Amino acid sequence: MEINGANIEEIVRQVLNSMEGRQQTAGTSASPAGAVPKTARVAMLTGLEHYDVKEFPIPEVGDDDILVKVEGCGICGTDAHEFKKDPFGLIPVALGHEGTGEIVKMGKNVKKDSAGKDLKVGDKVVTCMIFKDNPDITMFDLNKQNVGGADVYGLLPDDDIHLNGWFSDYIFIRGGSTVFNVSDLDLYSRILIEPCAVLVHAVERAKSTGILRFNSRVVVQGCGPIGLICIAILRTMGINKIVAVDGEDKRLAFAREMGASDTVNFKDHKGIEALAGAVENACDGHLADFAFQCTGSPAGHSNIYKFIRNGGGLCELGFFINGGDATINPHFDICSKEITTVGSWVYTLRDYATTFDFLKSAKKIGIPMEKLITHTFPLDQINEAHQTNLAMSGLKIAIINQ
Ligand SMILES: NC(=O)c1ccc[n+]([C@@H]2O[C@H](COP(=O)([O-])OP(=O)(O)OC[C@H]3O[C@@H](n4cnc5c(N)ncnc54)[C@H](O)[C@@H]3O)[C@@H](O)[C@H]2O)c1
Ligand SMILES: [Zn+2]
Repeated sequence: MEINGANIEEIVRQVLNSMEGRQQTAGTSASPAGAVPKTARVAMLTGLEHYDVKEFPIPEVGDDDILVKVEGCGICGTDAHEFKKDPFGLIPVALGHEGTGEIVKMGKNVKKDSAGKDLKVGDKVVTCMIFKDNPDITMFDLNKQNVGGADVYGLLPDDDIHLNGWFSDYIFIRGGSTVFNVSDLDLYSRILIEPCAVLVHAVERAKSTGILRFNSRVVVQGCGPIGLICIAILRTMGINKIVAVDGEDKRLAFAREMGASDTVNFKDHKGIEALAGAVENACDGHLADFAFQCTGSPAGHSNIYKFIRNGGGLCELGFFINGGDATINPHFDICSKEITTVGSWVYTLRDYATTFDFLKSAKKIGIPMEKLITHTFPLDQINEAHQTNLAMSGLKIAIINQ
């Protein structure tokens, strides 16, 4: 569904579907507003490329727990991997970690969120995969445990609670979990928090080189959601010269909407020298001061050094998972050019909190972040939603509960 084109037919279909869903669960999820139903619908990945929407009892909310009525959840690359191959061996599993919703019930001991903000019934919240008690621990420490001794919501092994992922009507947030009150952000912004935090972290890593400045000429290579959010963050920082590189004209046009000043389609240039020349032209006759590598392509990694000036900087964040080896020439690419490189992976708890402010700033200066969510589906069409995600015809796909 193209939400930006206000496809009425599709919206009507969604409303009808959701009404159907309510009828199926009459007396449960369809309880009057304000009342907590006895059961919740949870999308369980029960086999490869197959979810079943199941109904489970909502457990008693303990003194430290929070029950959240889910409003929506984005589909992440990780969900796509799980859907296709189950690399973590979690099936059956309730997926969805880019979710948000409203607190409908909470235990008497729950008073504040992980940033010290007050929490009450009716507040809109997100969870975060970073353990709350130690903000300095990042995903680099693979032995750490997340969310208060459990693991990441949306990647938890199934248990007798079942309400473990955000692709659902309700999620059961256990005491000790990282949770943030984000009532001051709209629904789409809240769904985008998790992927945006990846870029807040990457830009912080880039800044640690001392090379990224207000007047830097910056290249962003790869204009999927990750590269596009990178461009938006650079714009909110006041950087004006942002050259976006991709092979898809549609994505490059989107890059301009997100704040890129110039674009280069690598498919228009034969050979790396011609491509580097095109990037140099787009940078007003200079090579870039700094570059962000946002593709999962080894060739992309090899190419990017050619776009960077002597003494410039590079942030490589395109390989969340192993994408194979890339060839570079250590003499020409790094040593003689004195390039400073940083890697970036996931984010810290502080980056998560910074992301809320970034989303507000982006809105203030008119960056259309909400357009990143190109397709939405109701929960009972979660299989179609994942297939649309795999087809890569859009950008961010989200499940939205009516
Ligand atoms: N560092 C992290 O923590 C982190 C977190 C999430 C995702 N990622 C990684 O970021 C990468 C991008 O994610 P995404 O969701 O935007 O993916 P995506 O596949 O939607 O976008 C990648 C883009 O790169 C373009 N591209 C491919 N090869 C290219 C090349 N040689 N030159 C220029 N452009 C090229 C594609 O056309 C596409 O538009 C993924 O590989 C993912 O693993 C990293
Ligand atoms: Zn994610």
